[in-house]
Amino acid sequence: MSDEIILEVKNLTTRFNVLDKTITAVDGISFELYKNEILAIVGESGSGKSVTNYSIMNLIDPPGIIEKESAIFYRGDNLLEFDERKMADIRGNKIAMIFQEPSSSFNPLFRIGPQIGEGLRLHMKKSREEAVARAGELLESVHIPGAKGRVLDFPFQMSGGMLQRAMVAQALACSPDILLADEPTTALDVTTQAQILALLKEKSEEKGMSIIFVTHDLALVENFADRVIILYNGRIMEKGKASDVFSSPKNPYTEDLLKAVPRMGIFKDSHLLYTIKGKTPAPEEIIPGCRYSPRCGKCFDLCLKKEPELYRSGNQYTRCHLADK
Ligand SMILES: Nc1ncnc2c1ncn2[C@@H]1O[C@H](COP(=O)(O)OP(=O)(O)O)[C@@H](O)[C@H]1O
Ligand SMILES: [Mg+2]
Repeated sequence: MSDEIILEVKNLTTRFNVLDKTITAVDGISFELYKNEILAIVGESGSGKSVTNYSIMNLIDPPGIIEKESAIFYRGDNLLEFDERKMADIRGNKIAMIFQEPSSSFNPLFRIGPQIGEGLRLHMKKSREEAVARAGELLESVHIPGAKGRVLDFPFQMSGGMLQRAMVAQALACSPDILLADEPTTALDVTTQAQILALLKEKSEEKGMSIIFVTHDLALVENFADRVIILYNGRIMEKGKASDVFSSPKNPYTEDLLKAVPRMGIFKDSHLLYTIKGKTPAPEEIIPGCRYSPRCGKCFDLCLKKEPELYRSGNQYTRCHLADK
């Protein structure tokens, strides 16, 4: 990880106005992404992870809006001020995205090679032949056996893990500075999951590429991410180096998430895996005070009245009134 900032998200607020309700999916979040860094954004379903990624890509359509005070700086430019033409030059080229389902990246009716080469034709003005030849090299670079012969495969001819690799190959085609990975391993078995994480790490190091890795699974990122952001109900609850967050979490929500991770030997002294009480708030629910207070075992009266700021505590940040400031 270098100390050069490649992306700076400032006060990002994204809302959806549906019927007579306003859903604030992402509520004033700020973070920076360093060159060559793997940053994990972890949160339960509905916490605003995907909306954060789509906002970075400037892909929020009505009834969604990104509030005016939000900014996303990439190499000095605020992407939220870019028009469609300028944004089209960024997407897939400078900032690429991969998803949980390869079907969101590949059309089942077309062969893999030309689909991987599409970005090269669009952004680098390569011919169809050049793009398909390069697709073969890209499939090879993500360790697909017999890669060059597979450019003519249709998506259904590949296994889930292989398609996920092909999706990484497609995302890497134009050598982006940033890869947004939205739960890219959630649909895979654990062995394949580990292989895809290793592949992403390898590519990040090889190309000096930064990755924002979004997941609901905290355990997955322990030995993978450089830094971690814990998101809850559109708010950053904790932010810090992965090693610090895992060894000494500063926020009760992070502590609870860590306790809920299955570990070897857990059944020796307890019979059940820890579960966080209550449930995640409904999207339109407005929680007074700390957003986590209804579920927090350490909640006291102030927590119900006043939402804590994101305090600095040592090298970490935590949104908790109990923080050592
Ligand atoms: N297009 C949309 N219209 C209305 N609400 C949306 C839309 N997209 C996302 N949301 C809401 O925003 C919140 C955050 O969603 P999302 O970022 O997809 O969560 P996750 O952390 O699971 O990726 C959720 O409450 C979701 O219901
Ligand atoms: Mg999501």
